[in-house]
Amino acid sequence: MDAIDVIRAKRDGGALAPEQIDWAVDAYTRGAIAEEQMSALAMAILLNGMSRPEVVRWTEAMIRSGERMEWSALERPTTDKHSTGGVGDKITLPLAPLVAACGAAVPQLSGRGLGHTGGTLDKLESIPGWRASLSNAEMLDVLGSAGAVICAAGGGLAPADRKLYALRDVTGTVESIPLIASSIMSKKIAEGTGALVLDVKVGSGAFMKTVDDARELAETMVAIGTDHGLRTVALLTAMDRPLGNAVGNAVEVAESVEVLAGGGPSDVVELTLTLAREMLAAAGLAAKDPADALKDGSAMDVWRRMITAQGGDPDAPLPSARETHVVTAPSAGVLTRLDAYGVGVAAWRLGAGRARKEDPVSFGAGVICHAKPGDTVRAGEPLLTLRADDETRFARALESVDGAYSIAEAGEPSLHPLIIDR
Ligand code: URA
Repeated sequence: MDAIDVIRAKRDGGALAPEQIDWAVDAYTRGAIAEEQMSALAMAILLNGMSRPEVVRWTEAMIRSGERMEWSALERPTTDKHSTGGVGDKITLPLAPLVAACGAAVPQLSGRGLGHTGGTLDKLESIPGWRASLSNAEMLDVLGSAGAVICAAGGGLAPADRKLYALRDVTGTVESIPLIASSIMSKKIAEGTGALVLDVKVGSGAFMKTVDDARELAETMVAIGTDHGLRTVALLTAMDRPLGNAVGNAVEVAESVEVLAGGGPSDVVELTLTLAREMLAAAGLAAKDPADALKDGSAMDVWRRMITAQGGDPDAPLPSARETHVVTAPSAGVLTRLDAYGVGVAAWRLGAGRARKEDPVSFGAGVICHAKPGDTVRAGEPLLTLRADDETRFARALESVDGAYSIAEAGEPSLHPLIIDR
């Protein structure tokens, strides 16, 4: 088989044959297709799309590129959640221990942030001593002792996706529904979870900017999961404004701990509980009310056990940034818009995110939102606090923040509901 024939077939709008897909994914993983050839194929897929059978086959080829994990040694049903990524999206942090406190096992393989969207592993690494890389045996130990584990996917899991995702990142080919769906679902199926809840984000801070695109992505992923015998549910949720008040790494850990302690911003609490109910129902544990596990402290107990089992100190002070800059409301009125993308780019420019995969992140950097859309503000009142280790970062972050909010004398913000659809 020849890479150029495969590229031409997709470039000219045709469907790839099953053998072409199997060969292309395998040959790319082995290094027999050059990076520039796969980059041309990824662009052709982005421009011309894939039929459902093509996406399913592509996903299967990516799963076969590596190992498949399995959790039959555990006595509890496994259930997991995956978010397509957003700004202030720290939900995995309170959610995994909460669902474990209700009786499920949560093997949560997570990623790092790139660009304006944050990554769960970067957030957790702001806890002194916490380790993201675990062997399969260590993962099983933490799952057995704490009930939940959040860690990095090992190199043996869907290696084709690992290589392809890095390539897509630098070739403008991330925003493709078939490529996103196959990337996420190959990892989740290989991870071996028994049930999966997908949180598909919609809005300026998400990959999917419109409800129609998000719905297509959600339906594609649910179909792939269901075909593989994985109980899969998807919610479409809002990412037109930041989730919660904190955007960054350590600041998001602090906000997650507030939720586990029974407080925290109402949107973070509502989304955490909604996703927890879905995960428990998918795992056959619908009788448990996760709100009880927040109230009685059992979710916090699991969090502490999980962090400790991964080398972290749940009582250690979290890193904070050396410099702060407060953005105040220029006029009185109603905050009608706080754009997720603008705030996410500001946090990234402050050092919370990375521009290249090998860059370090600043744990203390980020943005605190003192008001959310719909809130009334007075002139001169703090709207946002920017946090950075180095004050030279403020100027570029402010460029992004300046156009990210609107205040009107009166009126209602036009926002997506937090839970748009199921
Ligand atoms: N997350 C993934 O794992 N893959 C994508 O392609 C996009 C988001």
